[in-house]
Amino acid sequence: MCGIVAAAAGSNIVPVLVEGLKKLEYRGYDSAGLAVVGATGIERVRSVGRVAELEAAAAGTSAPTGIAHTRWATHGVPCERNAHPHVSGGIAVVHNGIIENYESLRRELTDLGYEFTSDTDTETIAHLVEHLLRAEPDLFRAVQLACRRLVGAYAIAVIDQRQPGKVVVSREGSPLLLGLGDTGSYAASDASALLQVTRNMVYLENGDIAELTAAGVRIERRDGKPVERPVHVSELSAAAVELGQYRHYMQKEIFEQPEALANTLEIVGGAKSIQPGIFGAEAANLLHDVDQVLILACGTSAHSGMTARYWLEAIAGVSCTVEIASEYRYRTSVPDPRQLVVAISQSGETADTLAALRHAKSLGQHKTLAICNVPESAIVRESALRFITRAGPEIGVASTKAFTTQLAALFLLTLVMAKVRDRLSEAEEAAYIDQLRHLPVAVNKVLTLESEIEAWARRFADKHHALFLGRGRHYPIALEGALKLKEISYIHAEAYPAGELKHGPLALVDAQMPVISVAPNDELLEKLKSNLQEVRARGGELYVFADADAEIPSTEGVHMLRLPEHYGQLSPILHVIPLQLLSYHAALVKGTDVDKPRNLAKSVTVE
Ligand code: M6R
Repeated sequence: MCGIVAAAAGSNIVPVLVEGLKKLEYRGYDSAGLAVVGATGIERVRSVGRVAELEAAAAGTSAPTGIAHTRWATHGVPCERNAHPHVSGGIAVVHNGIIENYESLRRELTDLGYEFTSDTDTETIAHLVEHLLRAEPDLFRAVQLACRRLVGAYAIAVIDQRQPGKVVVSREGSPLLLGLGDTGSYAASDASALLQVTRNMVYLENGDIAELTAAGVRIERRDGKPVERPVHVSELSAAAVELGQYRHYMQKEIFEQPEALANTLEIVGGAKSIQPGIFGAEAANLLHDVDQVLILACGTSAHSGMTARYWLEAIAGVSCTVEIASEYRYRTSVPDPRQLVVAISQSGETADTLAALRHAKSLGQHKTLAICNVPESAIVRESALRFITRAGPEIGVASTKAFTTQLAALFLLTLVMAKVRDRLSEAEEAAYIDQLRHLPVAVNKVLTLESEIEAWARRFADKHHALFLGRGRHYPIALEGALKLKEISYIHAEAYPAGELKHGPLALVDAQMPVISVAPNDELLEKLKSNLQEVRARGGELYVFADADAEIPSTEGVHMLRLPEHYGQLSPILHVIPLQLLSYHAALVKGTDVDKPRNLAKSVTVE
């Protein structure tokens, strides 16, 4: 999704802007641009494509104040004309998010004589600020007035050629934070863009407006009240976002899973028992009378929720519903104040998940828990309880280590809920904890299958469709495998609970259709084997991920890989890994942009 970097410092900030944009590339974008207050006024450089092209185009540009942007198209096609910054008179604006009332603003500004040169909603902000500056010459005040007219979600940064040395920023709904450096002040969509200059970060709240100068920052609310925000020292490791020995971030992140899981599970330590307190000081109090769980999430995070549903119902005996956040937020639902609302999100900024959480709270559902990878994110800040997965920064658009660490967190939640509800003996709890502790080692063993999976992936070079099958708690894993394959290799993939085959999808199966099956030796294996026979009988080519104990013969048309260990309830965490590797290598064979697949963004901060 779009990214913003802004700087006001004592020396040339163009390298800081470009480096910051590079760090935000992972969010997904199609064009980039920057504007500075130069000796002759606003100097703007924009380009379609990669930040490296913008960097080359901006080689001669130098100034102490500027704003920069990576754009992920919402209003208007990706092209230079629509790329940010947008200018009006002497001001330039970059913007993330969506201005919902831009059409009426555009009509109003057109009537006032402003000419629009782009198809974007952002250009209305540029003209609006320019118009307001005629009566209110102070940029800070003019932006404050403009923000009172904007409806929607946004983060903006504005410069004015008549007020060099100053950047004004504001946020409502879209993330934006400030960086306090020794010789300058900065703003960006996320902390990774600013680690190059400072670790001292200030997280703006919705409705905050800040002025950045080389000397420091000041913040006011939209209604003009001054406000202080705490300074956080970021613990994000700059090295964590380097590619190192890997070809792609996705590959790096797949291989980081043992460490990510170990870090996430460190909270369990050497204990034989887990306390509710791992979800926050209030957890014991809040969880004791929970009668149902409602999980809200999008994409991969929704798949982790769907997996957890099997655990929560089977082990903790608590009924669980999983809803896609974008559906729940607009649906008339029946609120239950004793329901635990669990918002799952890697980024913690996904607009639909955040809105769904707020919607649940507005219905009086105050038992809320965030399972999230970004501690300072909005979803965490707005939830009563939290569990921070310690996956480290996930850069590849395709979520991998965030998913498996979410599953680990959700399994811990299952154990806590089971204990609170008196459904778990000490011996069972200790056995599950031992299994969790062994998980990083078990994942490492699965990763050794990479070369065999790579060989399988070569057979996908000419495929246009694929079918994924799973049953029970492995059905969401089949869904996740299909999502991974389609988003990075662009092979159309569908996932079905294997029992559904003969109710429709079997009609698609022929010799051209690879059918990938998740087949551990669980209570549903015999049922699954019959479903696989149905595929073979129609000539479908089977790719089966079984495990050490699963008795499935490898025959003609049945390719078989065995995961080294059978892992019982926790088996979904192991079985998703070969599917991640399969889609990664299929994407390499297809030659797609693995880390930045077309049309997708890492962090979906707009609806
Ligand atoms: O940051 P979140 O976990 O809230 O993101 C949700 C989805 O946008 C995300 O999981 C998406 O589906 C991934 N690209 C899947 O790999």
